[in-house]
Amino acid sequence: MLSQEELQRIKSGFDIIGNDATLNYAVELAYRAAFTDLTVLVTGESGVGKESIPKIVHQYSARKHAKYFAVNCGGIPEGTIDSELFGHEKGAFTGASEKRKGYFEEADGGTLFLDEVAELPLPSQAKLLRVLQSGEFIRVGSSQVLKCDVRVIAATNVHLEEAVSRGKFRADLYYRLNAIPIYVPALRERPGDIELLFRKFLADFSEKYRTSRLRLSAEAKKLLTDYRWPGNIRQLKNVAEQLSAFESVSDPRQSVDISGEIMARYIPKEQGITLPVKSGNDDAGGLSSADKEMIFRILYQLKADVDRLKAIVLQGEGAENQAPKVLPAPHNDSPIITPHAEHYTVDDYDMGEEHTIVDRPLSIQEVSEELIKAALKRNGGKRSAAAAELGISERTLYRKIKEYNIKM
Ligand SMILES: Nc1ncnc2c1ncn2[C@@H]1O[C@H](COP(=O)(O)OP(=O)(O)OP(=O)(O)O)[C@@H](O)[C@H]1O
Ligand SMILES: [Mg+2]
Repeated sequence: MLSQEELQRIKSGFDIIGNDATLNYAVELAYRAAFTDLTVLVTGESGVGKESIPKIVHQYSARKHAKYFAVNCGGIPEGTIDSELFGHEKGAFTGASEKRKGYFEEADGGTLFLDEVAELPLPSQAKLLRVLQSGEFIRVGSSQVLKCDVRVIAATNVHLEEAVSRGKFRADLYYRLNAIPIYVPALRERPGDIELLFRKFLADFSEKYRTSRLRLSAEAKKLLTDYRWPGNIRQLKNVAEQLSAFESVSDPRQSVDISGEIMARYIPKEQGITLPVKSGNDDAGGLSSADKEMIFRILYQLKADVDRLKAIVLQGEGAENQAPKVLPAPHNDSPIITPHAEHYTVDDYDMGEEHTIVDRPLSIQEVSEELIKAALKRNGGKRSAAAAELGISERTLYRKIKEYNIKM
């Protein structure tokens, strides 16, 4: 067992906040894994903080002076994954004008973090298994077997056992990767950490923007801890940023009280969304579970957007009674009236010329398309950020953009 001081030192070294025993256990496992060369599989929902784990493993391992690469397998188009991971020879495919080393070659002697490993296509999974078993790999377009010494850490927010049972992920690779499993708990599994994290984020933002401190009432705290936080710490951080953007005043010496009523405006309402998806075999012409998950998240977000629009209207109605809010520099000159300054102005909702209000219910495709366009727009066309906001992998987003023929 690590002592409390040692544990704390590791956590602060990697900016990890929280004292919950389940989180401490994950950190301790990462530390212990560092002294072996076994493959580590980091699991946990989206936004829980999986990305710190491989860094801890690398930093405390004998490989710490060698290279560390993090590769997001979900962010690389399927056709180029093998070349990214294993390299290619000159002329291996159209556009391969030069020979290129892959990550396994580059990271020789070091650590390779394969994030979103469930997104690897099956042929690449076979190649990954080979390199894990023997250190051997072949560049695309070559027949020469090369060798490397790379420690692999993989992460996923997908239930890999289920992916195995659906034939999407190789069972042998799963067992190989899972030599040391490290589970990073969801935020709702460590409710004691929620307030701690939230306060830390608020303090960071008020320091960054030089704004007032925010003081949370007991009701506001209760709302925070009662909420499910499906987007985990990433979502908590966003809410802290929105709250601090809209409720602070520009004097760092002042403090502002946050009532439950104010806090409620920033926390999405949870009830009311049930998605009528057909049950049965995913591949029988219906929606895949990735699609279902995306649609669910999109609808969820749509609901949050509607709530925000409601808040705009309500706030507009009561505007004359309210003290002006001071905000950290918004990104354009239009008046900000939504509790979401970082990303939205009313114009961003594309109401007006481009959109007519339709009476018929929107189809799932139309809803998805709109949400994807809005997310891309809010994130300046950056797919990785838009995908993270929508809670889907970059690959799924890429596929949807192609499928819906979305122009950017
Ligand atoms: N314990 C923590 N203390 C402080 N910040 C944290 C903690 N855990 C996560 N974060 C922050 O939360 C955000 C999300 O973390 P991270 O990117 O590691 O999530 P993830 O588990 O990799 O999610 P995904 O599966 O969606 O990629 C990051 O901004 C990270 O800095
Ligand atoms: Mg991640």
